[in-house]
Amino acid sequence: MIDPATVQRINDVADIVEVVGDYVHLIRRGANYMGLCPFHNERTPSFSVNKQRNFCYCFSCKKGGSPVNFIMEKEGLNYHEALLHLAKKYGIEVVERELSDEERAKQSERESMFVANEWAMQHMEKNLTETEEGRDIGLTYLTQRGVTDAAIKAFHLGYALDKGYALTEAAGKAGFNINVFKKLGLVGTSQQGRDYDRFRGRVIFPILNTAGKVIAFGGRDLKGGIAKYINSPESELYKKSNELYGIYQAKSAIVSEKKCFLVEGYMDVIGMWQCGMKNVVASSGTALTDGQIAMIHRFTDDITLIYDGDAAGIKASLRGIDMLVSHNLKVKVLLLPDGDDPDSFARKHTPEEFRKYVEEHETDIIRFKAQVMLDTLKNDPQHRIDAINSVVTSIAHIPDNVARDVYVQECSMILNIPEESIAKSVARARAQIVQKMKQDRLRKQQRQSSETQSQSSQIPNLSQNAQLHAHTSESLQQHESDQETVHGENVIGSYQVSGTINETDFRDRQASNLQLQSPLYPLEKAVIKYCVRYSFMKFCSYEDTTSQEQSATPRIVTLDVLSFVEEELRDSNMKFSVSLFSRMFDLLKGMRNGFETYSQHRTAELEERLSQMRKDGYDKISEKALSVDEIRREEQKLEQNITTERETAIKEICKDYPCRILGSHEDDDIRRLALELMMEKHHLSNIYLKDGTTELEEDRLSVLLVRALDEWKNELINQKIRELLKKFHAASRDGNIEKQTEIQAELNSLMNMRKEMSKYIGERIVFK
Ligand code: CTP
Ligand code: MN
Repeated sequence: MIDPATVQRINDVADIVEVVGDYVHLIRRGANYMGLCPFHNERTPSFSVNKQRNFCYCFSCKKGGSPVNFIMEKEGLNYHEALLHLAKKYGIEVVERELSDEERAKQSERESMFVANEWAMQHMEKNLTETEEGRDIGLTYLTQRGVTDAAIKAFHLGYALDKGYALTEAAGKAGFNINVFKKLGLVGTSQQGRDYDRFRGRVIFPILNTAGKVIAFGGRDLKGGIAKYINSPESELYKKSNELYGIYQAKSAIVSEKKCFLVEGYMDVIGMWQCGMKNVVASSGTALTDGQIAMIHRFTDDITLIYDGDAAGIKASLRGIDMLVSHNLKVKVLLLPDGDDPDSFARKHTPEEFRKYVEEHETDIIRFKAQVMLDTLKNDPQHRIDAINSVVTSIAHIPDNVARDVYVQECSMILNIPEESIAKSVARARAQIVQKMKQDRLRKQQRQSSETQSQSSQIPNLSQNAQLHAHTSESLQQHESDQETVHGENVIGSYQVSGTINETDFRDRQASNLQLQSPLYPLEKAVIKYCVRYSFMKFCSYEDTTSQEQSATPRIVTLDVLSFVEEELRDSNMKFSVSLFSRMFDLLKGMRNGFETYSQHRTAELEERLSQMRKDGYDKISEKALSVDEIRREEQKLEQNITTERETAIKEICKDYPCRILGSHEDDDIRRLALELMMEKHHLSNIYLKDGTTELEEDRLSVLLVRALDEWKNELINQKIRELLKKFHAASRDGNIEKQTEIQAELNSLMNMRKEMSKYIGERIVFK
């Protein structure tokens, strides 16, 4: 654990322009920098770097963030590793934080497991070259199979001696606690209670995680035993379904080649690596999992599966297809000539030949499936129908609408079936898949529902709301027109644009964030958006009439955006129902102290700059030969400029702070949401007025924020009304007149509330 102060320091010192500059050629554009996005292929720059706020963002692929996030994404590291990477770059000494006892125990157990694995790996590497048995058996085998010294080194290949207790004894001598080796599956215990080496007389393939730490081993038999491979069991360090063999050695090549090859075995990875194709990983003989696909997706969108061209290979290549395409990956298949695996093929061909073979033979996976289905099942009509349906199902798993259409067209040609009928089937299957996704989410959500409070219990309190109207009305009245459009849509529509729920969103969101389908989602999102963007910016002032001291002049209360929303929610008895928003809101509230310090510091800098500006200004004025009146006018102008400068700069300071903190937040969901909310292209938020001029969102904030809050309240009232209506119908079915009257009364008052509400919303839109 790095202590928080150091984390802060790294985040402060790391300069986004410098960090990105190591990877991207940046061109200055006003206050920002632009360049070609390093995360996707593009010809015109959409990657923007904001020096002031210290983060970067790609408007096209939406990746980006603070220096730490950039390094995470670019180098494929986790948060902690990326911090260390930056600490090294900037020569910051990393102080590890004091851990709690529990953390320390857990941490030290994990650490000692890593240390033991690292030691075992090095020990077995030495066995391979420095013992007679290792050289005679292990090294000879590898050499015969054409494995080069470079590959042996890069993959840390080793040899486990065939002595029974060699490793166990050496570990004991080296002072290790043997229980750690048992947890790691390096040492077993016999029925007689004797400890022994689990890997014996085998070539060892260490399995490294993305950061290059040893998490497990595979051992290949050399004696014709029953188990061709034995592998480390799952442990605290090794979750088989989340790892890929070769990822550490491959990751930078995957990024630079913009593509990843997926093969089956250890030797296939090594064979291709030696043949110059280093962007290769193996699933180690099992079907791909979601976790593994997600890992590949961190580095590239393009994946090519390589299989033996025999029947088994073809079958295997079709196995994970639905899952792969549902991840929005571009998946291709490459079949090798019958009888060859990547390893043997690589040995028979030069790198150029292999590359050429790839280019000529890799086939889009859906097209491949359609062709295979057509070839193998030509005659029997029932089989043919099944085959077509299976292709349809695969297409339906693709999240992207356009891509689905393209495949519908193509498969209709391959299978010789009218396009409309395939399109219809795909649409039906898609609907089912989406439905199922929704149900899964709902089920998950229900499991966690105790966590979030019931939405229906929140009823906005309208009399308080009237107050809200009063203390913002002044600024509201400066604005006019309900006809204003945002890129051709009305403003209310634009909320929905930013809150649009697409299916990719659905899948990508974490469990904590499954309330997307709620009609409240876009409404709450609009409110949290303004909170993130303008949190500590001054929003409104009002006279505090509740003050006890009658005689005193009325106290003027000033609220920033965040405290305004806070008061508003409290007065109306509302809460964010989307837990991610609620967490974000709490985080923002918790940032107030930090902001005070930050703003003091920055304001001091600012005042220094302004006083220099004043001094220079007066010097200049005195240099000119002016009349007294002219001097006075010049001086007034100068003071006016300074005041404007100050106001703008202070607003910037208020807006920068949350951006800096949230943009580098450790929690992926928080950071992503913050970036999305902050970076939504500005022209979307600016208001296009009737006369063709634009007005900044910032200047219209009072209207926009109040309206967003109102719409949210309105929806809550609507929910409550719907609920009561249901109860009313139930009561009338039961013939319970008393209950009916009771509900009717409640309904009436809510309906009135709604009417009032929409009057407010309406008023605010048409003001003048
Ligand atoms: N595998 C395994 N256990 C086995 C067999 C296979 O874990 N008993 C995994 C290994 O990761 C292996 C992969 O499945 O690398 C593919 O199996 P296979 O093609 O049989 O092994 P190769 O690595 O190709 O080995 P070789 O070429 O030496 O036969
Ligand atoms: Mn093989």
